[in-house]
Amino acid sequence: MRSLLCRIAAAIALVNGAAMIPAEAQEGTVPPAPNDLTAEIDPLDNPYHVDDGKVDRGTYNGYRRYHSSCHVCHGPDGLGSSFAPALVESLKSLDYVAFAEVVVNGRQAQGATGNSVMPSFAFDPNVMEYMNDIYGYLKARTDGALDRGRPQRLPK
Ligand code: HEC
Repeated sequence: MRSLLCRIAAAIALVNGAAMIPAEAQEGTVPPAPNDLTAEIDPLDNPYHVDDGKVDRGTYNGYRRYHSSCHVCHGPDGLGSSFAPALVESLKSLDYVAFAEVVVNGRQAQGATGNSVMPSFAFDPNVMEYMNDIYGYLKARTDGALDRGRPQRLPK
């Protein structure tokens, strides 16, 4: 398996590359619709499978990883808290690359009410190894494909 940083670099190259290719030339490379159960899981185009409330293995893992590493600040089920924003709102505009950038580097905002700190997870293998799973889970929640709570797993 390629390292996560390689995958992120490839994702960034892909996003930058796509922006420079004229629309006509991109014909035939239309990405699958989100949650296309026949398409491969891929954090950029098809980050999760949900069928009748049941999820693929990665999305289930993302649920578990989110609730062990992110929930304490970002609230249960991605719904936010007084400390940190609701990621089910954030992912309406953050794509995988932008999401990964914040999780790797962290972020700090200085406001009138004090500091709000998103720690860097760059050295946390429990997050780095499973970034695409966490994203897939949160994206499924954001898209309204998945309800709150512990999901059931698809048979495969
Ligand atoms: C110690 C508390 C804390 C933990 C733990 C934490 N975050 Fe954050 N996170 C924050 C805060 C606070 C912000 C808002 C930072 C700012 O004001 O720019 C934030 C912002 C973010 C953003 C940007 C949101 C936006 O709307 O731009 C993402 C994405 C994010 N966090 C993902 C995660 C993920 C994924 C995890 C778990 C691996 C996680 N965070 C764990 C506190 C935390």
